Amino acid sequence: MKRLLFAAFFLAPCLPARAQQPVEQRITALLQQMTLEEKVGQLNQYSGRELTGPASTRKTDQLNAIRSGQVGSMLNVRGAANTRAIQAEALKSRLHIPLLFSLDVVHGYKTVFPIPLAEAASWDLAAIRLSAHVAAKEAAAAGIHWTFAPMVDVGRDPRWGRVMEGAGEDTYLGAQIARARVLGFQGEKLGGTDAIMACAKHFAAYGAALAGRDYNAVDMSLQQLWEVYLPPFRAAADAGVATFMNSFNTLNGVPATGNTYLQRDILKGQWQYPGFVVSDWGSIGEMVPWGYAANKADAAQKALAAGSDMDMESDAYHTHLAQLVKDGKADMSLLDDAVRRILRKKFELGLFDDPYRFSNEKREKQVLNDPQNRQAARQVARQSMVLLKNDRQALPLHRAWSRLAVIGPLAKSKRDLDGSWVPDADTTLITSIYDGLAQRLGSKTQLSYAKGCDVLGDSRAGFAAAVETAQKADAVVLTVGETWDMTGEAKSRTDIRLPGVQEELFLALKATGKPIIVVMLGGRPLIFNTIADQADAILLAWWPGAEGGHALADVLSGDYNPAGKLPSSFPRAVGQLPIAYNQQYNTGRPVTRPGDTRYKSAYIDAPNTPRYAFGYGLSYTTFQYSELKISRPQLTAAETVQVQFTLTNTGPVAGEEVAQLYLRDPVASLVRPLKELKDFQKVLLKPGESKTLTFTVGKDKLSFYNQQLAWVAEPGEFQLLVGSASDDIRLSGKVELLP
Ligand code: NOJ
Repeated sequence: MKRLLFAAFFLAPCLPARAQQPVEQRITALLQQMTLEEKVGQLNQYSGRELTGPASTRKTDQLNAIRSGQVGSMLNVRGAANTRAIQAEALKSRLHIPLLFSLDVVHGYKTVFPIPLAEAASWDLAAIRLSAHVAAKEAAAAGIHWTFAPMVDVGRDPRWGRVMEGAGEDTYLGAQIARARVLGFQGEKLGGTDAIMACAKHFAAYGAALAGRDYNAVDMSLQQLWEVYLPPFRAAADAGVATFMNSFNTLNGVPATGNTYLQRDILKGQWQYPGFVVSDWGSIGEMVPWGYAANKADAAQKALAAGSDMDMESDAYHTHLAQLVKDGKADMSLLDDAVRRILRKKFELGLFDDPYRFSNEKREKQVLNDPQNRQAARQVARQSMVLLKNDRQALPLHRAWSRLAVIGPLAKSKRDLDGSWVPDADTTLITSIYDGLAQRLGSKTQLSYAKGCDVLGDSRAGFAAAVETAQKADAVVLTVGETWDMTGEAKSRTDIRLPGVQEELFLALKATGKPIIVVMLGGRPLIFNTIADQADAILLAWWPGAEGGHALADVLSGDYNPAGKLPSSFPRAVGQLPIAYNQQYNTGRPVTRPGDTRYKSAYIDAPNTPRYAFGYGLSYTTFQYSELKISRPQLTAAETVQVQFTLTNTGPVAGEEVAQLYLRDPVASLVRPLKELKDFQKVLLKPGESKTLTFTVGKDKLSFYNQQLAWVAEPGEFQLLVGSASDDIRLSGKVELLP
């Protein structure tokens, strides 16, 4: 009550319009009172790590800017007490407009979930939504209003370190996941204290950075932009995402931050998007080194004109925008529109009614220590794992194996399991793989350990001890991969083979003749051909988060039957890139028989196919697809066709299968990919159980962007392909679209 009175006292002068009045009227009333400088202030975002540190390191100039209404939002200030303290400074400003506190809450706040790419491998929209919801609950309790997530960039180049933040290489899957994450962070509607604003980033096409090099240029056809890269953004907008972030890259020569086509024509124009756009860190200023703006003032002018509403850390708006407006070089109506968009979100979050509503230390303590959050992280982690190989049922771990050697540089690592983009990796909360197994297997299984080697470097000094450890065991669990800081922002790699001497360690262990079960960890598709050829089993765990050790023990022991499917193709060689399944075309010279490469579209030193295809993943059971029925041979644009089939669990244990529907348009006015994912269903079946599944296909699923950029379904035949992976089609049929 005290707090409410306090807020009311401060807010009364700026709000002649009462709380009951519609938000738009309240915004108009507030805008009328704002000076030019105060308006620009709302567009200004600073990072405040120093602001909440020891008093001596405080940036007093930032504090002064906050107190005088020159800052609209802070990033990197977190914790109920810290956000409360800084909010109190903002409320000292003339109009007492509250700040928005933002942070990169990418896969968990305190409770770290698997990295987004891993979660995408679950193909489980409810699990993904749950992960975002728990992250939002925790972040909101720590004073955060706004996360810079989800990253909805389609990522088809595993050299690009940021593939770990996305949903993989497919547009349809990416759009479904974008929606799930937005709804997870925001709930159905903003305003609750367990929901935060989401941010669809990076608008647009950042995932196509040339050569997989971060911050690089993007050059692509508009068909590709519309068909492949924009739909996940559209899905996020349709799900009500509160904000967008633009991007570091250029698109066909124009920086995304200064791109009118993207931000004004498409986003705010065609899509009628009501939220606001924040720049990426310093990306307004970066238009100068790009060679698109002469100086920061020019950059500020171009960014505002192009539709960038908030300036993250460039200080370009703060320094230049007021003068640009006074000089008639920037349009006041565009400034007003940007301010209106930002204020609207502050109203929707309820910050004008209680600026401290997210900054409650009691709630923070309670929510951050809720054990259910950890349970959710464990559940999502095991749902994210992909069984890549399981020869002669090496997994689940055999009961007869009473001595298990846990070997490898990542077996006892904790920090690595969290991956990158975590607010703070509290290693006391992380269960290592070794500890997870030890807890699950108990005293009946004797566990031994050897590191063998580091992830990086060429020392083989630990090999002998590792081999000796393996020799004394019945089987080996070998943990290999990347370190946590090898993927993420600014972590592009030219060589995505398993680093260091890890594959050599594998070969040394393999020579013992013991069964070798490889647990692969990492934040991108990696290349590990030797292991792929010779391991008995391979379980891809990605970066599974703080509960990763427990989740792995669940899967390895057979308590949980893995059902993950790859959201990205895993190449055999980096020279095959780009290798995304939906970037494969028949060409004029298709390879019709394996090895038939002469004058064919092929390599002479490797097959065209990836090592592991999009949509691939095994289970401890097997599934049979049968009885395909296509409800009609022909349809008109107004009709739909039902693709029905029976899925049966033909193996010994219960399990989930992700049944996938692909489509091929064999003849069209633009050459189409060999396969495009159009739908999927994840189904749980008991041993012997069958279910009838149905996919519905209508005009939309048959459409593509033609040469005029019109979304059209062209009459003719379409192939409908149902399967367990993009390279494992079990049933196929066709349908004809009538003119
Ligand atoms: C730069 C990154 O590109 C972006 O994704 C992130 O949200 C901002 N930094 C803020 O940390």
